[in-house]
Amino acid sequence: MKTVILSYSYTGNNARLAESIAQQLQIPHLPIIPQKNVSMKTIVLDVLFNRTPKVHPVPSVLKDYDLVIMAAPIWMGLIASPLRSYFKYLKSGKQDYAFLSVSGGSADSSIKIAKELRKRLTRDPLLILDQHIADLLDPAIEPTAQTTMAYKLSEEDLVLFRDRSLSELTKIVKPD
Ligand SMILES: Cc1cc2nc3c(=O)[nH]c(=O)nc-3n(C[C@H](O)[C@H](O)[C@H](O)COP(=O)(O)O)c2cc1C
Repeated sequence: MKTVILSYSYTGNNARLAESIAQQLQIPHLPIIPQKNVSMKTIVLDVLFNRTPKVHPVPSVLKDYDLVIMAAPIWMGLIASPLRSYFKYLKSGKQDYAFLSVSGGSADSSIKIAKELRKRLTRDPLLILDQHIADLLDPAIEPTAQTTMAYKLSEEDLVLFRDRSLSELTKIVKPD
């Protein structure tokens, strides 16, 4: 089974998770690069107007893979907009996919992710794993959006999230 991991990251967390998974599974990692600069303004406009930013690599790069794993943050309750071109491409095919996220953390986020994926791809993923920064913070302090948005995974956090991801992914990733 040919497998690839695709990631988009604004502040580095999801790309680092994807890279460490790629190394462990020995699969290619394709980082997504939007053609235009991403800023708080473009993030908000993409969410408000459901825009699909142009990205590298071109989505058809996924054509040779049986399983596409994607990793990206959640922005304002939605999956980061740079994934949308790939969702559109996958919608017209039959490939299996999985979705991973390192997000700030909100109790109902996995339900929202499942709904959005079903809407955009018209089929369900083999796996959704949304891991929360809020779970890494001091439980005595109420996390704010500012704190979670600014948080960069430590090496220890990365290993924790990578190993959790791998224990789920090994159930769906089959050797070539
Ligand atoms: C503009 C913006 C909006 C965000 N909205 C959410 C949100 O709705 N829910 C959530 O759980 N996290 C939210 N976050 C937090 C990110 O998902 C989190 O910081 C993530 O780890 C960033 O991943 P990255 O480093 O790969 O870009 C938001 C972050 C930004 C910058």
